Amino acid sequence: MLDLAPKKEELERIEIASRDEIQALQVRRLRWSLNHAYENVEHYRKTFDAAGVHPDDFHALEDLAKFPFTVKQDLRDHYPFGMFAVPREKVVRVHASSGTTGKPTVVGYTQNDIDTWSRLMARSIRASGGRRGMAVHVSYGYGLFTGGLGAHYGAEALGCTVIPVSGGMTERQVQLITDFKPDIIMVTPSYMLSVLDEFRAQQMDPRGSSLKVGIFGAEPWTNSMRAEIEEAFDMHAVDIYGLSEVMGPGVANECVETKDGLHVWEDHFYPEIIDPVTGEVLPDGEVGELVFTSLTKEAFPVIRYRTRDLTRLLPGTARSMRRMEKVTGRSDDMIILRGVNVFPSQIEEQLLRCDGLAPHYQIELSRPDRLDEMKVYVEARPGHTEAAARMAQAKLLAHHVKSVVGVTIRVDVADPGSVERSAGKAKRIVDLRPKD
Ligand code: DLL
Repeated sequence: MLDLAPKKEELERIEIASRDEIQALQVRRLRWSLNHAYENVEHYRKTFDAAGVHPDDFHALEDLAKFPFTVKQDLRDHYPFGMFAVPREKVVRVHASSGTTGKPTVVGYTQNDIDTWSRLMARSIRASGGRRGMAVHVSYGYGLFTGGLGAHYGAEALGCTVIPVSGGMTERQVQLITDFKPDIIMVTPSYMLSVLDEFRAQQMDPRGSSLKVGIFGAEPWTNSMRAEIEEAFDMHAVDIYGLSEVMGPGVANECVETKDGLHVWEDHFYPEIIDPVTGEVLPDGEVGELVFTSLTKEAFPVIRYRTRDLTRLLPGTARSMRRMEKVTGRSDDMIILRGVNVFPSQIEEQLLRCDGLAPHYQIELSRPDRLDEMKVYVEARPGHTEAAARMAQAKLLAHHVKSVVGVTIRVDVADPGSVERSAGKAKRIVDLRPKD
């Protein structure tokens, strides 16, 4: 694979500034953001008052812990525009995240917010190995989802040629990759696997494609999946993280030269890790729930927003800004199976150890006899479809999961192509348990 690490002089100064400098900037910006939220959003005024804190109580980074958390329900309660901090006329764009239940959550951007987002996405694409002049194929969905337009504006800001394909129509994706020869693809990792299958279905060699880098996010994916994609396409696979409430993609991004977790763009977002049960702030290095406070957002400031994503903070490496470890899962996706906590990503890791299984999978939860059961639907790789091979692979996966994760599962090895595909985020869990 090509060496695509940016040179030091290509980076923004703040990316490699001293920790003191970064922290001084954070204190200044946090003070502004707390005041901005308090003065312009009724919800924050009420919750700060109820907690007995005022933005004037903020003097140092540790003081942030005095302020109340914000959760997704707060956004729903103020649907659609009740948490905007500027008049609606100053909002140049809205996005929304559908979620699985209830009303969507709506977020807004001023022109300055869009400019900041574009710059941070440009920074993320550069960290992934992108440069001015490269062609970028965007397969994240365009529309209310932040993926497509976020990637699009960032790639333009970096000076790339954008190919705004959006998700779906997999045959056409392959056609356009072959004809337009993009250097970079931006897409969910699970949909990239569908693109890979399509290359093979058309008997084309994915390693012969023009792609040098894939910038994958919007859902959890493992390092084993990275190895699978990098090997298949002979390209770098880099992780990008973000969420609509905090901005969209580009809150944190891996660096292509290290691929050791995602550098949080700490000059615009202040991360904390908390104990999800007590809400207590945990020291760097400990795993817990990721919480973000925006430092510069005008239209939709968020104060201590609980993401429900589980990870830990680590010191900077390729940049001075701290890293977050690859997100293993969301607390919402944690399955408790007979007392053992299991994330779909743990199943994914074991599945990729089985040569005869393809990395498409879905987990079905049921409760046949008052006890929960987990069944993993997975596909045989082409060439491994005979009954005996399937049975052996099913046994092998169940064995790996039992010995590494500690739970008993049933495995159904289906035909290639039979596990449900998505053009965006994959649906990993099908929960058939009765709602109590
Ligand atoms: O998924 C924004 C995005 C678009 C990020 C494109 C990256 C690329 P939402 O739809 O609001 O926004 O979903 C946010 O997706 O809280 C995580 O649970 C999950 N997520 C996003 N990126 C990653 C990642 C976009 N790299 C939610 N790894 C977040 C694991 C991720 N999970």
